[in-house]
Formats: sequence, C-alpha cells, structure tokens
Amino acid sequence: MGIVGILGRPFIDLEPLLDLAPLPSLHEEICLGLAQVPVEYTGGSHRSMGIMPPSRAHEAHGDYGEVLRAMPPDEFRRFLSLADEPGRFDPARQRDYRFGEEQDFPLSRKQLRYLNYRHRVYFPWKVYYEMIPNLYWDEKSSGEGKSFTREARRFFPRTIAFVQGLPFREIGRCNIMGLEANDHGTVHRDGDPASKHHVDHFITLCPAGNKRLFLWCEERRVELPIDRRAYWFNDSDYHGVEAAPFFRYSVRVDGVFTDEFVEKIRASC
Ligand SMILES: [Fe+2]
Repeated sequence: MGIVGILGRPFIDLEPLLDLAPLPSLHEEICLGLAQVPVEYTGGSHRSMGIMPPSRAHEAHGDYGEVLRAMPPDEFRRFLSLADEPGRFDPARQRDYRFGEEQDFPLSRKQLRYLNYRHRVYFPWKVYYEMIPNLYWDEKSSGEGKSFTREARRFFPRTIAFVQGLPFREIGRCNIMGLEANDHGTVHRDGDPASKHHVDHFITLCPAGNKRLFLWCEERRVELPIDRRAYWFNDSDYHGVEAAPFFRYSVRVDGVFTDEFVEKIRASC
C-alpha cells in the first residue's frame, strides 16, 4: 500500500511542460464565475464506498452512505420529498435505492443540503462545478457526446479556451473542485492499484497555487505534498487535501493525452 506513482515518480510535475502564464487571469475569471453560478457538493461517502485508507477512515466524519442506510422511515420520506422528482420513489423501498456518487440516483441539491444540515454529513468539496458534466467515473476520459455547458461558456470563457488548448486528444470531464475554509479533502483513492494497472490521463490545475493536495502512503503513514500549479498523479494512490483557513480550488481536466504529450512526459522523467 505504498505510493505507486507514474513512470517511477510519485507524481508528474507538469509546470515545465505547459504554458501557465494565463493562470492569474483564469484565477480572476474563476472566482468571479463561482460567485455567480449554482454550485454542488461532492464527496461525503468515501468511507461507505470503501475507498479510504483504514488508518484515516475516521476523518470522513458523517458519511451519507451510512446515514441513508440507518435513516428511520419518516426521515427517509422527508429525504425523498427533496428529490428533483419525488414522485418516482416509493418510501417503502428504502433498502433498494442507492443514492449519490456512482449510484443509480444522484442526490439533488436540496438533498445534499438536508444531509449536511440535519444529518451532519461532511461534504469536503462544497463548491463543485461541472463545466463538462459526466455521470460515471469510468466514463470520464471519453469525450463522446459531451461538451462544455452553455452556462460554463458564459461565465468561464477564458478558462475553457485554456483547457481546450491543453494537450488532450479528447476531453471527457472538466470541473472545478473547491473546499471552504477549514475543510479538508478526505483521503481516498479512485481505483485499486491491485486490479487497475493503467493510469487515467488528467491534469489538475491550481491557478492560485494554494491548494495542498497530498499523496498518502498507508504503509509508512506519511503524506507527500504536491505544491505545483499543474500536475498529474496516479489517482489509484491515496490522496487528500490539507485544511487551510481560506477557500481553495483546483480545476481538473480528464481525457486522453496526445501521443506527443505522453512522449514529452516520458522524456521529462
Ligand atoms: Fe480523488
């Protein structure tokens, strides 16, 4: 359970391989845009998804997978009433429904807030904005049938132009992931390195350079911080975000790198 990394490195520093001169201007645009668009929550069920390292599972605080399993019927009825289409659910089938990330039924914005306010669920990313919506994790690299939303084009035009200029053959997902002051990103991994042997292509951009992601080695119980403004890591390695007394965000772009960029990365290692 050590850090697997990529090409013999714990992570790939992309700063020397990309032109990041526009980042300060993107930071201004992103902050202004986030102040105007409706944002979602994400995370909140990493422990019940079984993707946290055993030594840090307690840091997830309230987990909605656990909360929903234990919810009394009358409260579950209230929870269902907050769905975008409450009529499609039968309260008697509580055990059959799976809500949230990677499940059959995404949580509505009202349900996210209710779980936070009433049931003390901890959502690490309380400012989550999808510029290219994607429902399932294993579809995030494919650009087929996807595009930037009209709203994203309106509020984040320079950011989108920058992302479209990144060395991807196709882009399947692009989102802004923000943490409120004092919140931490729960340590988790998005794949199991024992069964997943390839590393999905993506670029994380941190225009303000102040979001401290770290890789976690469960074997040695140590954190490896990443302080770059552009990087790629193996998301089958455990990773989390340090708390800080201010808002932080990153932009994550998933897709398939161009062959030239893969070569450039290899040559840099
Ligand atoms: Fe992750």
